[in-house]
Amino acid sequence: MNYTTKKGVIKMIISIINQKGGVGKTTTAVSLASRFAKMECKTLLVDLDPQANATISFGINSPYEPFKRVKFSDYLDLMPSSKKLSFLDIPDNHVKNLLKEANDEFILIDCPPVLNNLSVNAITAADFLIIPILSGDHFSLVGLKDIFGTVESINKSCGYKILLTNVNERLSITKHFINMLIQAVGEEKIFKSIIRIDSKLKEAPFASVAIDAYDVNSKGSIDYGDLALEIINIKKELIRG
Ligand SMILES: Nc1ncnc2c1ncn2[C@@H]1O[C@H](COP(=O)(O)OP(=O)(O)OP(=O)(O)O)[C@@H](O)[C@H]1O
Ligand SMILES: [Mg+2]
Repeated sequence: MNYTTKKGVIKMIISIINQKGGVGKTTTAVSLASRFAKMECKTLLVDLDPQANATISFGINSPYEPFKRVKFSDYLDLMPSSKKLSFLDIPDNHVKNLLKEANDEFILIDCPPVLNNLSVNAITAADFLIIPILSGDHFSLVGLKDIFGTVESINKSCGYKILLTNVNERLSITKHFINMLIQAVGEEKIFKSIIRIDSKLKEAPFASVAIDAYDVNSKGSIDYGDLALEIINIKKELIRG
């Protein structure tokens, strides 16, 4: 577990990674950041994806200079994506060093859908990884072993769990898929919380707000609320050691 900051806050750096595109990385980063802030946990969302989808989700323009921290609300700060990010040549521990001074309870890092030096930086900096995968998608299962190998070669001490997204409980493949996933990685590597398919999660970015501000009673808001609580418990366990 990470460091106690000067202000006595135990911070947890969580990177959301998967080199597969469109699996819910940004939706997870934005929804969790907003939820933690709503729970009055001081939170920083770092957008490490040059696509800037997390930045856009909060209605913010990408600045030219990378790694500029901006205040968004009482409990939420953002480090928006920068137009320069794609061309940056930074060492693997650049982001980790940058975040040493941060005094947040939760730092969430949204990653691009590739394994490049930005995602290596995100893995190097992290205490914990969320690996979202699309429920019912064969190719997501196949790619998992590669991701685990990559993570373990970069940051051995980093914990991780898989997050099932876009879960459609009415499809017969869903149960079968979850069983196959348990067989492949073990139940302890999968979040108990699942994210159900919910069109409101698609609508929220159009309104430049996170799901809990868009529709607090939606399935997406409820599911990400559950996930936030599960992560708070994981953090408590990590602190206890
Ligand atoms: N649970 C869900 N139900 C319905 N739509 C979802 C859900 N989660 C994400 N989406 C939608 O799926 C699309 C892809 O999600 P998102 O952008 O979060 O994925 P990503 O992994 O960050 O993609 P990329 O790899 O391009 O960065 C978006 O349109 C998003 O609104
Ligand atoms: Mg994304």
